[in-house]
Amino acid sequence: MSIKYNETTKELHLTNHSISYILKILPDGQLGHLYYGMKLSHREDFSHLLPPLHERAYVCYPNDANKDLSYDIVKREYPEYGRSDYHEGAFSINHENGSIITDFSYDSHTIEEGKPLLVDGILPATYMDSDSEGQTLEIKMVDNVTGLELYLSYSIYESLPVITRSSKFVNTGKTTVGLQKAMSMSLDFESMDFELLQLSGAWARENHMEMSPLRHGHQSVSSSRGASSHQSNPFVALKSPSCTENSGEVYGFSLVYSGNFKADVTVNHYNQTRLIMGINDHNFSWQLKPSEVFQTPEVVMVYSDMGLNQMSQTYHHLYRERLISKTKRNIMPPVLINNWEATYFDFDEDKLLKIASTAAEIGVETFVLDDGWFENRNDDKSGLGDWNIDYNKLPNGGVKGLSDKLDAIGMKLGLWVEPESVSEISTVYQLHPEWVIQTPGRNKTLGRNQYLLDYTNPDVVDYIYNKLSKIYDGANITYVKWDMNRNITEPYSKTLQAHRQGEFMHRYILGLYSLLDKLTKKFPPEMIIESCAGGGGRFDPGMLYYAPPLAWTSDNTDAIARLQIQKGTSLCYPLRSMGCHVSMAPNHQVGRYTKLQTRIDVASFGAYGFQLDINKMNEEDVTRIKESILRYKEMRELIQFGQFHRLETESGDNMTAWMMTSKDKTIAVVGIYQALAIANPPKSIIRLQGLLPEKIYKNVLTDTQHGGDELMYRGLTFNDAGHYYVNEDALLATNQVGAGDFTSEVIILQA
Ligand code: DGJ
Repeated sequence: MSIKYNETTKELHLTNHSISYILKILPDGQLGHLYYGMKLSHREDFSHLLPPLHERAYVCYPNDANKDLSYDIVKREYPEYGRSDYHEGAFSINHENGSIITDFSYDSHTIEEGKPLLVDGILPATYMDSDSEGQTLEIKMVDNVTGLELYLSYSIYESLPVITRSSKFVNTGKTTVGLQKAMSMSLDFESMDFELLQLSGAWARENHMEMSPLRHGHQSVSSSRGASSHQSNPFVALKSPSCTENSGEVYGFSLVYSGNFKADVTVNHYNQTRLIMGINDHNFSWQLKPSEVFQTPEVVMVYSDMGLNQMSQTYHHLYRERLISKTKRNIMPPVLINNWEATYFDFDEDKLLKIASTAAEIGVETFVLDDGWFENRNDDKSGLGDWNIDYNKLPNGGVKGLSDKLDAIGMKLGLWVEPESVSEISTVYQLHPEWVIQTPGRNKTLGRNQYLLDYTNPDVVDYIYNKLSKIYDGANITYVKWDMNRNITEPYSKTLQAHRQGEFMHRYILGLYSLLDKLTKKFPPEMIIESCAGGGGRFDPGMLYYAPPLAWTSDNTDAIARLQIQKGTSLCYPLRSMGCHVSMAPNHQVGRYTKLQTRIDVASFGAYGFQLDINKMNEEDVTRIKESILRYKEMRELIQFGQFHRLETESGDNMTAWMMTSKDKTIAVVGIYQALAIANPPKSIIRLQGLLPEKIYKNVLTDTQHGGDELMYRGLTFNDAGHYYVNEDALLATNQVGAGDFTSEVIILQA
């Protein structure tokens, strides 16, 4: 049994083989938090984990008789502001009389096997395959003055160090209340001895790992762009300062949501840390009428006592197996070629078929036709929103004609769309300017020359559904690339009353999810959806749920820049979810020239593909690409479903190393990358992970043999030779780490 309730001490202990989470119903009915972390043996009474009872100066006590119960001191499960707890609350409610005080106290709880769907049925969430995989605790809290009900939900997986949390408000009262803030969770820690780890960035430099020590006051990671954003990913972790990739404690928090979010960490005057996470309350409000329900998105909490790698491996496993739906979770994405960087808007059927047929000859399986296949789309200034096929570019039967020709050469077709956007120069905009997100009487801000459609309006969602259905019904399309290239401005909808405009941002995401849900049900089960928002602008678990199994990681295809992006992304997301393509050199985003082998070695640790015209490459490079596809296909199952390890290197950011091991640990593939060459370098030793210590592994490429124990405890040596390159030919012949800048080596090990 995972969840234990002690009627006498009023304690609830959620536990499995590795973690414990303990909470207590306090004498005044409030929910106190006692512990979260490494498993504790169950005891009948954990109340000694409450802070000691003594009065403190300048502390207010809601119940003067109970001096241990100041909310300023007690750790709490889902705190409100205003009743002696002055820190960031998890929720805030405006009542009809203008007051903000609520007093939710414990009413009852249920413990059930398995994990139910979130009540609104549309918010994405992790699931359990069967009731035996875990249990769910739901605690009912009631505010007696208004009759409002609050349900706090906790699901614990039996075999994973995972607890998911969400909350739900039900208005059983007689008057409408205004939710001003409704976080998914809150968690109090006893100390501030943590570093905040976040994934920050910008377009083309997404998900860079950033760490900062906690300090008193607030540290926030958030998005108010209407999408989870390039700038901040909806993932944070609190790690102990000594935590490394492979040792030490870390708590991860990942929000299954694609819109505005906030993770806020506060350290109070007693050095206690509070983390809240959920929909960003900035510009948020929600009118909850009598008998209505507001469901928050889910936060997935992962605990690891073995460093960041273990945390990531847990997220990878959970998101691969229990976030991506059962019908999609075993899909093996094809090796693809996407024409974007090869042609941009400048293509016709002939050009596409030339690219596709050479690609088919060397083993590429799917051709993804990117932006520009529809009328009025020769640059990014027009055409979005009408979705009429451009028969000038595709004169022989349009998309269907192209898919038939691709079928004949054994290639499947994928098609790019950007269904949330509309160009000013488009028929739909001329007919329905009111469908665009805008504030009456104000300027409409353009982004990439386009507007966003108001997805809170069901007519808009229906229009897009019908348009897309027609396109996808009309041709044999097996892959959808779903793009979105700007963020929301002037948030407002004509479909909402004045006092409901604060609901806009969340309703937009609900509209998006409902469209994706409807389309997914219509598409055949093997349909692959690649989500994209100018690269990783909406790389989040919500999109992974609705657009499985992958996302375009970044518009930056430069191999060296990608090392940081893919490494950061791997903190929370499985390799299988990262679209990674080999593109031309010099690279289009940074102008860097990187050897083809390095580009291959970086991109093949993900969902592999290309964005280049193979016809423009020399024979040697084509052969190299062909070999890489063969190698990838051999390793595809390993890359898609194996265990990923980030490896520690002595040379810091100049050298990146990672590896994948098979489930039975007998096969491994290791990637090692060096940015800048160092003359006469000290040798670098990299310790591998996840092997069987007692087994002998053969390096498949060199035929040398090493013990699994030796590879993990002593490590592999690189840069050992102190290469002395005297002639250019010798230098060009190798891609060994150290042989010039931007080099790489991939090692395949077999037990
Ligand atoms: C942004 C995407 O990230 C690119 O891959 C490409 O699809 C362009 N949009 C097309 O406009």
